Amino acid sequence: MKTEKQISDRLALPSSPCRPADAAAIAEAARILRAGGLVAFPTETVYGLGADATSDKAVAKIYAAKGRPAFNPLIAHVEDLVAAKRQAIFTDAAEALAQAFWPGPLTLVLPIAPTGNICALARAGLDSVALRVPAHDAARRLLAATGLPLAAPSANISGHVSPVTAAHVGDDLDGGIDLILDAGPCPVGVESTIISCLDGRPRLLRPGGVSRAAIEAVLGHKLADDAGGEAPIAPGQLRSHYAPHARLRLAATSLEPGEAGLDFGGIFAKADNILELSTRGDATEAAANLFSHLRALDSRGFATIAVAPIPDTGLGEAINDRLARAAAERPPGR
Ligand code: TXA
Ligand code: MG
Repeated sequence: MKTEKQISDRLALPSSPCRPADAAAIAEAARILRAGGLVAFPTETVYGLGADATSDKAVAKIYAAKGRPAFNPLIAHVEDLVAAKRQAIFTDAAEALAQAFWPGPLTLVLPIAPTGNICALARAGLDSVALRVPAHDAARRLLAATGLPLAAPSANISGHVSPVTAAHVGDDLDGGIDLILDAGPCPVGVESTIISCLDGRPRLLRPGGVSRAAIEAVLGHKLADDAGGEAPIAPGQLRSHYAPHARLRLAATSLEPGEAGLDFGGIFAKADNILELSTRGDATEAAANLFSHLRALDSRGFATIAVAPIPDTGLGEAINDRLARAAAERPPGR
């Protein structure tokens, strides 16, 4: 259900254009995506809310439009296996699964390749990436026309059911996106199966459009199960989760000697050891800078990073969720 706030926010926006996914609309969608905008597009599973996966700024708009309470890592959609290999390192098992099921409703979680350019926000700061080559003709034509990997979660408000028609997308997100491509109902209707190929035996992270049996038949052995089963994997539950080496001191209003600073809205004095998430106090801009700034400060070896207070409004809630996890987590040996 939409909250009253979400509904009143939508009413304040002009409604999103919805066009049949013909050649002209796909060309227009590709222009919007290359300029950092949001386009909802059909896949064989569900409609996705797409943005340039290489741009933190564009991906921040996805989280803002969906009203996500936390930064889940997103699936990056690519044109083919060649494009996927630019982004990630394939094990033999991953290669076999890709050969068998791509294009199609299978997502592989893999270590990022040195040549990869999926942005940190789309990966929620992880060193791994979820990749999928969709089978839907409109999605494939869009990927070809855009020439970019596209981050695309389901095109619904966070917590709502996934959309399988363009009308569902409009019901949830009208006004929040630049264009909706309509190609009728999605043939599969449930999200892709997600398999992690990060370590040892491939692991089922989310059941979906390709059955466990079909996957096990290709692998020649059983899949390992994820403890979370069907539950969505939150970044804090991911084993390869990125936690900074530095300690975070949250809601800091000034810097102690020797600390680095992560500022918001210019409350710290300007200095070399301070990075600004958003001078104008804009949470969507801050989200786009969050993981890259954290990493940049962390790489400079400070013991503590003081983080300015960030209001819980808009993407502020997701930013604060992520910062609280990063502040709490202390993997063994650190
Ligand atoms: O069918 C689908 O997969 C749809 C359509 C639009 O393609 N897309 C979709 O995307 O469901 P998304 O971004 O909502 O899927 C995100 C999920 C996360 O919740 C997490 O379970 C998993 O993908 N994921 C993404 N990156 C991951 C990573 N690096 N490690 C583990 N899981 C990851
Ligand atoms: Mg979803």
